[in-house]
Order: sequence, then structure tokens, then C-alpha cells
Amino acid sequence: MPRRAGVPVSGRELFSEEHSAEVVAASFEGTPDPRLKQVMTSLVRHLHAFVKDVELTEEEWGTAVDFLTRTGQACDEVRQEFILLSDVLGVSMLVETINHRTGGQSTESTVLGPFHMVASPQRELGADIALDGKGEPCLVTGQVTGPDGEPLAGAVVDVWQANEDGFYDVQQPGVQPEYNLRGLFTADDQGRFWFRSILPRYYPIPDDGPVGRLLAATGRHPNRPAHVHFIVTAPGHRTVTTHLFVDDSPYLDSDAVFGVKESLVRAFPVVDDPARAAEVGLPNPFRTVHFDVALLRE
Ligand code: BEZ
Ligand code: FE
Repeated sequence: MPRRAGVPVSGRELFSEEHSAEVVAASFEGTPDPRLKQVMTSLVRHLHAFVKDVELTEEEWGTAVDFLTRTGQACDEVRQEFILLSDVLGVSMLVETINHRTGGQSTESTVLGPFHMVASPQRELGADIALDGKGEPCLVTGQVTGPDGEPLAGAVVDVWQANEDGFYDVQQPGVQPEYNLRGLFTADDQGRFWFRSILPRYYPIPDDGPVGRLLAATGRHPNRPAHVHFIVTAPGHRTVTTHLFVDDSPYLDSDAVFGVKESLVRAFPVVDDPARAAEVGLPNPFRTVHFDVALLRE
């Protein structure tokens, strides 16, 4: 006997445009891990809603598959084009922000980025991390505290930044000195840290791959505003991965990866004081910035 349209073959509803999301979501009913089931079900619902919203053509679907394939092919030991894609879609920042809510009690976090080195060199407080002799000299000072302002003696402050030409040392092996503009500092007994560096400048994220072509096709620029990266750790406290941004940098309001938070922007005033310059070991005049970092207790 012929079946009536819409009546399931064996109790399970068949695929239809109208109920596509429900039918596919139901296929994950038996997922043993409840979190995986929740994530897959929600992903399917949103993905199907998106395809219906734009009425995706077969050609566009093919283009998307090709784009994701090329994104994967652009990944290697040092390059992670999928994270870059997540960055320019604001997903990295959203995940970071959801997972590091501060309740207004600690320094806000932002994206890690691809240029952090796990084995950065230990440096003495006051050391000059600008090894290539380029850029405008800058004294960076700050203090690491807990949420109630208590100094965190011995906190570890990991810093890195791009050079005057807008590149990190790891992007230019053999051009920049190894470990240029990066270092690990141990805060003093008052949680204070200080080091010599340069005024950071804005730079483009790697834009010679599929993500760069996506930015170009959508009329977006690839630039990030001038910043210094920080990872600050102290025993018994939550680590903060963040940036210090320069208040008059271009692209503060259009960061290609949406990393800017108002609370992380600081002035870098010029100090014109030969005696002070001699004291801190920088040529006169020089820039300064102060960046206090507060960590939540674990
Ligand atoms: C960075 O600031 O180093 C960065 C962050 C995200 C993507 C590319 C670079
Ligand atoms: Fe950066």
C-alpha cells in the first residue's frame, strides 16, 4: 500500500525543508555526552536557520567548502588560519570574553594571537627588550595586584610586541634578533614591574591567505591598533591574557580582530627630562606608560 506523504517510514520523521533542523537535531538524540549533544543540536539549529535565511545557492555552498578547504590547507606548524578566521569573525573574542568575565574586579582579557612564545626568555626588571634598536624608546611600568588591590609579589609578567616595522620576531627569523621585543619578568615584592621597550605601532594581521582574501572581498582592512601583549600569572590567581593599547593609535575603533576594550587603552606621554632618562637608561626624550593588572583569586 503506498505511504501517505509526511507519514514517517518507521516512526522517524523524514527530511523536509520545513523541519530540516529538527530532523537532523534528532539524529543526535542518543549522544552519550550531554554537552556534546547540546552543542551539536544548537549548531545544527543555527546552521540550518542561516542556510534558510540566505537561501544558500549550490554555487555558494561550493565556494564555502572551497574556502574552508583552503583555510585548512594554509595551516602548518606555525600558521593557524582557522584561528585567524575565528579572530576576524569575532568568535575568538567572544569565547575569550564569555570565559573570562571580570565582574569589574580584574583586568579585562583579550585575544592571545598567534605570536606568543611559550619559551620566552627570563629578563631582569628594567631590561630593554628592544634588541633591534628601532622605534621610539618607551618605559613600561605597572603593578600586579589581587582583586582587593593587594600586591602580588613574584607575579610573572610575559610581554611581547611587534617591532617598528610591524612584525613580530617570529615572523622575521634572521631579520630581527631572536627574542626581540619579548620577555618574562618577575614582579618585585610589591608586585611592581618595569622594563624598557618601544612605543608599539599598528600592524596588519597575516593577510596573504584565505582570511586576507575574505577581508579584501568584504572591504575590510587587516590592521590591528598599536598594542603590547601581556600574560600575567600569580599562584592562586586566574591568569589574565590581555593587551595594553595606545590611546592615539589608528584602528582603535576598527581592530581587524575586535580585541579592543576601553579599559585597556592608555596614554603613552612623552617625558622630556634628561636626568630621568639617564636614571632609567633611555635616550631623552622618551615615552612612558603605566599599566596596573588586577587578577581574580582562583
Ligand atoms: C596579535 O595581536 O598578535 C594578533 C591577534 C590576532 C590575530 C593576529 C595577530
Ligand atoms: Fe599583536
